[in-house]
Amino acid sequence: MQYGYFDEKAREYVITNPNTPAPWANYLGSPEYGAIVTQNAGGYSFVKSGAAGRILRYIFNQFDEPGRYIYLRDEESGDFWSASWRPVAKPLEEYKTETHHGTSYTEIVSEYNGIRSKALYYVPMGATHEVWRISVENLTDRPRKIAVFGYAELTTESFYTQDLVNMQYTQFITKTEFHDSFILEQINEFNYPNPDGTTGRERFFGLAGAPVASYTGRREQFLGRNRFDKPQAVLDGKCDDSLNYNGNPCGALQFELELGAGEEKSAAFLLGQKNVFDAKKIMDRYAKCAETVEKELQELITYWHGELANLKINTPDSKFDAMVNTWNAFQCFTTFVWSRAASLIYCGERNGYGYRDTVQDIQGIMHLDPELARKQLTFMLSAQVHHGAGLPLVKYSHNAGHENTPDDDSYVKETGHPSYRADDALWLFPTVYKYIAETGNVAYLDEEIPFADKDVGTVREHLKRAINFSMTHLGPHGMPAGLHADWNDCLVLGSQGESTFVAFQLYYALNIMKEFCENEPEYVKYLDETATKLLKILNEKCFEGDQFIRGFRDTGDIIGSRNDKEAATWLNPQSWAVISRAATPEQAEAVLETANKKLNTPYGLELMQPSYRYEYFEGARMRLFNPGTKENAGIFCQTQGWAILAEALVGHGNRAFQYFQESSPASFNEDADRRVIEPYVHGQFIEGHESPFAGRSHVHWLTGTASTVMVGCVEGILGLRPTTKGIEISPAIPSEWDGFTMEKTFRGKKLHITVNNLAHKEGKPSKYILNGVEREAGLIPESELKDDNKIVVIM
Ligand code: GLC
Repeated sequence: MQYGYFDEKAREYVITNPNTPAPWANYLGSPEYGAIVTQNAGGYSFVKSGAAGRILRYIFNQFDEPGRYIYLRDEESGDFWSASWRPVAKPLEEYKTETHHGTSYTEIVSEYNGIRSKALYYVPMGATHEVWRISVENLTDRPRKIAVFGYAELTTESFYTQDLVNMQYTQFITKTEFHDSFILEQINEFNYPNPDGTTGRERFFGLAGAPVASYTGRREQFLGRNRFDKPQAVLDGKCDDSLNYNGNPCGALQFELELGAGEEKSAAFLLGQKNVFDAKKIMDRYAKCAETVEKELQELITYWHGELANLKINTPDSKFDAMVNTWNAFQCFTTFVWSRAASLIYCGERNGYGYRDTVQDIQGIMHLDPELARKQLTFMLSAQVHHGAGLPLVKYSHNAGHENTPDDDSYVKETGHPSYRADDALWLFPTVYKYIAETGNVAYLDEEIPFADKDVGTVREHLKRAINFSMTHLGPHGMPAGLHADWNDCLVLGSQGESTFVAFQLYYALNIMKEFCENEPEYVKYLDETATKLLKILNEKCFEGDQFIRGFRDTGDIIGSRNDKEAATWLNPQSWAVISRAATPEQAEAVLETANKKLNTPYGLELMQPSYRYEYFEGARMRLFNPGTKENAGIFCQTQGWAILAEALVGHGNRAFQYFQESSPASFNEDADRRVIEPYVHGQFIEGHESPFAGRSHVHWLTGTASTVMVGCVEGILGLRPTTKGIEISPAIPSEWDGFTMEKTFRGKKLHITVNNLAHKEGKPSKYILNGVEREAGLIPESELKDDNKIVVIM
């Protein structure tokens, strides 16, 4: 079934049927002040941490409740409804609604009973409060009286677990006050650290643009003995002006509208964690409510559409375009900014940045905003320990040069991370390379950055130490040891087990370093010899003719051998053999073919096959998951991006695009009940063929899938491959396409690219026409580009 569509002009996903198989969410603000909102206005808000800074209550895994509710009541008939379909949930034959999820704003437009309402939710640029603008329009030809109620269910305590389970304490530390236009919630009111009597933990819920007609700060009064579909206060037509003292706080404010025929009026509810003085200041800012809101919304749109502007594609496949131009790109920015902070499936589990996740996330925005990417990259380099490894968890409060590491008990205690991972710092190589290639800023390699615990070194030195870390942690075959995990969190191989995936990453890193250290012949010689040796081991010990094995256990037993009963073929060693350029062309063909035959399903490639059930070893933690799920032979979506890229690199456009389509959210737009989560964002995994729910996806929004699939599409399918010297354009596309166009800004220069595929090839273009001059396909040095370029790529 289909529940909505992509409006690419507005860069919105529009939900036309609100009864979706799961809450379909959008992200507002940033973790400084973060808000998640669904098409039924469900979701929560927090300050800095979804777990420790929660200000709106939300019950996970339930009914997408509570939310940012706005109720409308016809004062003549007493009939009432909500500005979002739920919570009141009027019959959909009578209640028409569209949710416009946009770039950092969501607007729910609904029509019922001759009244059109528009509830717009956003967090203004750089602000730490949120706005719910409500416009109400009388579509009938008679005057109408409408009462409007805004309801925010405030937590009793910032720690959401305390709010939910330790009520013997939390219900008795909170009270509410009314201040003309807003409710103020106090928590531990007299335990104030500030001289002005404030605690820094107050929250306000205010109304701008209309006078408050009635209010309550008590959930028990607003709801009475009812649920959200029939709050007592709305049934009564007003709140009773009561306040909370112990029990459950809330912000509920009501105002009255008299609307002539065709008339429209608006007001705004405001919410934030602010003391009484700051709340008043914010309320003042919205004195001219309609104008302020319009200005703030335009600022958001201008900013976000600007961030997405560096690449625009127009291909024969509008869903591919919608993903690359808008939704995958916006999701990449969201993972870049939010990391894994909060969603509707987890919040605040990690009080910091995962090393590999963050360094991967940076890649997702590289083609759009490389300088923003660089800031985070520099930060992550400063979270590398002096011996080269990445800190498994980089605290939000990271203080470079002064951090403890997994070698210190205190770090282990604080973060729960006992030791290093084999791959973390190796993700720096492609990410640094992509930054330098996108910008041409080779000088970045000489920038000095502190290490996490001690020492300072140039970026080049940081990378050298990353290689050194791998080289001083080799296993018995001379391949990188798997340590606490390689990319796969469920594969614990220790210091004696070894990972082919990491070996390919290291091989790739060694080759990138050769380019970065051109002026150090001795070091280049070392890199060369090391790479050659590693490649020999990979070929002699890990290649089985049609596939690479996954690695070795600490016992020396092979993991992922072609005749194993379980976990015989793994995807990542095949795709990474190609991405790392370790595989010969023949090997590449063979291993990609094996991946296709043994792992592909209608919904993407499974991570390995068959799942672990009986044959696992101690370090194979994925056995905990049901077969066909997550790392246990699920379709791990992040790895689809690498499969797409690998196929594209060898010129298999048909297969690259097939893999894109199989797992792309947008492909399920018309079959959304199968995939369940939003058809506009990637999830972490899709259930594989061993599950009775094959094709169902999970863990929406904050996942490494966003960046790897983006890279697979941009560098792979579209073939936009910047190098340190210039750019190569080598599309790998469905052979049936006649061609397509792209607008790309590269190092400040405009590239208007037309790909001509009248030859109906699937990869490896034959020539370019650059500004009217024909030339062979391949690298275009930056020096040959003008400010504005017309490039025809002939396939
Ligand atoms: C999760 C983790 C990521 C890991 C992946 C595979 O997505 O966030 O770090 O690489 O699982 O285990």
